[in-house]
Amino acid sequence: MSKEQTQMSKILVAYASFAGSTADVARAVGEEIAKAGGEVDVLPLNQITNLEGYAGLVLGAPMIMGWHRAALRFLRRNRQALQHIPLAVFVMAMSLTQTGQTDIDGVPVFVDEKLPKPPKNEGRLSFRERYASVSNYLRPILRAARSPKPVRIGMFAGRLDYGRLKWWAVLFAMVIVQAPAGDRRNWPAIRAWAAEIPAAFRLSPQKSPPLP
Ligand SMILES: Cc1cc2nc3c(=O)[nH]c(=O)nc-3n(C[C@H](O)[C@H](O)[C@H](O)COP(=O)(O)O)c2cc1C
Repeated sequence: MSKEQTQMSKILVAYASFAGSTADVARAVGEEIAKAGGEVDVLPLNQITNLEGYAGLVLGAPMIMGWHRAALRFLRRNRQALQHIPLAVFVMAMSLTQTGQTDIDGVPVFVDEKLPKPPKNEGRLSFRERYASVSNYLRPILRAARSPKPVRIGMFAGRLDYGRLKWWAVLFAMVIVQAPAGDRRNWPAIRAWAAEIPAAFRLSPQKSPPLP
């Protein structure tokens, strides 16, 4: 295979992180894609200048009072390139209201079983439960990506370590997220989701190559 052909099949796993734990998740995602035969780069967003030479993008970031701002910015900035290559997204979080939702606007959403909690009152969600809903978390991501939409989205339990955080971050996490500290990352679920990415990218509608 020529160097050019090899590069065209490479997948980029790009991530943003607030306290470091999403980097390990991105590496695990990259490992699974590589096992499925794909070439992979795993990079933090601040080391990526453009998407040239990549055949697909997996973008992962935690919920930090909304999806990590750098990840949303990255999606908006790369809309043009994402017209031509498929996108998958993963979201790390510590609080999610169980609603049974498995897709958003036709995009399949995988929810890690360790993450969601049933609402206190099924018929009437509290403000916090509505805030922590699949659609409230994912709508801004779909808006930032615009079109075409991601081929799939994974939502996984993350890690919260109050010892690594500034006081305001601890306060927000305690009051709004209301999650106990701990590492709840579900590696089998993360890896199983990632292993399906190469096939999902191949199945996504053929896109024309980027304009020079
Ligand atoms: C300031 C702050 C805000 C957060 N906001 C949310 C949130 O809105 N919803 C949620 O489910 N988790 C929230 N979390 C939990 C993080 O998404 C979770 O801990 C994630 O795994 C952190 O990833 P990182 O270690 O890569 O930064 C928040 C954590 C912090 C510190």
